[in-house]
Amino acid sequence: MAEKVLHTAMCDIFGIRYPIMLAGMGGASTPELAAAVSNAGGLGVLGAAACAPEQLREWIKRTRSLTDQPFGVDTLLPSAVPSSGSAQKFKAELPQAHVDFARDFKRRHDLPPIDPARAPSRGLAFSRDFFAHQIEVVLDERVPVYVAGLGDPGFMIPEAHKRGMKVMAIAGAVKHARRFVESGVDVVVAQGTDGGGHNSRVGTMVLVPQVVDAVRPTPVLAAGGIADGRGLVAALALGAIGVWVGTPFLATPESGIEDFQKAAIVAAGSEDTVVSRTLTGKPARAIKNKWAEEFEASGLKALPMPFQALIAMPIMEAARQAGRKDIVPGFAGQSIGMITRVRPAREIVEEMVAEAIEILAASMPRTVSFSK
Ligand SMILES: Cc1cc2nc3c(=O)[nH]c(=O)nc-3n(C[C@H](O)[C@H](O)[C@H](O)COP(=O)(O)O)c2cc1C
Repeated sequence: MAEKVLHTAMCDIFGIRYPIMLAGMGGASTPELAAAVSNAGGLGVLGAAACAPEQLREWIKRTRSLTDQPFGVDTLLPSAVPSSGSAQKFKAELPQAHVDFARDFKRRHDLPPIDPARAPSRGLAFSRDFFAHQIEVVLDERVPVYVAGLGDPGFMIPEAHKRGMKVMAIAGAVKHARRFVESGVDVVVAQGTDGGGHNSRVGTMVLVPQVVDAVRPTPVLAAGGIADGRGLVAALALGAIGVWVGTPFLATPESGIEDFQKAAIVAAGSEDTVVSRTLTGKPARAIKNKWAEEFEASGLKALPMPFQALIAMPIMEAARQAGRKDIVPGFAGQSIGMITRVRPAREIVEEMVAEAIEILAASMPRTVSFSK
């Protein structure tokens, strides 16, 4: 019997077997997870937003040692950040009320001091210089795919194309998708509000078709709440050529988050997330947690990027090291309600494809006879 395949334009664009891309997720999408997804026939993407340039180069090399398949790198490029400066300099500019709130929170919740040896991203701060150095590494290493998780990658596209790379950007609104296409991206990701991390105000079901219409013929991947073969088929029906999937891959042995965070994902339901600016300064979906709850209740306003992260991330790091799921269960999307166990990334990819093929195969004859 002939093998059943699910082949879309996405497979041709990236030279992959299945139209499934691992979302770049800071802390989770490590070389191990990205390689596992690429080896399973999808396309693994490193969540490298908080990687210093040297670490990013190391990650790329490690990924290459784990897979000979294509993979990508995702970083953030928000435009409204300072052009240069260290974390130390930015910290000196933090409002006293925010510093006091963080100090009191730490005390109230009995958080221990951070062990610097276990805090890889400590001391980093977003600036345009920092982003430029990350992009230099991405270009120098000729990573097959670069994804801007936030912001417009237009400035690096000519150089990336010269090196044979593909460039993508994530849009949570139609106007952003249009702008990225004018800048020359090869593929747009339309991510709806269902998704984990930085977020849209519009649901995936209505965002994807609008982005598809607005940017045609530029190809679109659907993201936000896609967790199984049904979601994949729905994405194709909405006009996407494939999917960008984050949350389901958090609950895998290969993902870089802590075991207590994986357990929190398995335990949580779809109503257990919240969209809040309290972690990064931009609206981001995470599992409900005491930091977001108490910061919102304090009446303080979240600071713009990169300043809010300088307040929140040391707390998150201390809570991570202490195994505190009440404070740092982590970013996650509404599809957590569909996740019932931790299982290998390969199993997620293969099951998603098998289910999608089954749905498509079963619906075809009915569709044809119905239309007669
Ligand atoms: C734990 C976590 C961390 C994330 N970190 C990033 C990031 O560093 N860069 C980025 O572009 N998007 C990030 N995102 C968003 C994802 O790339 C993706 O758009 C989203 O997970 C898709 O929706 P889903 O979670 O419903 O699959 C993150 C999402 C999660 C859940």
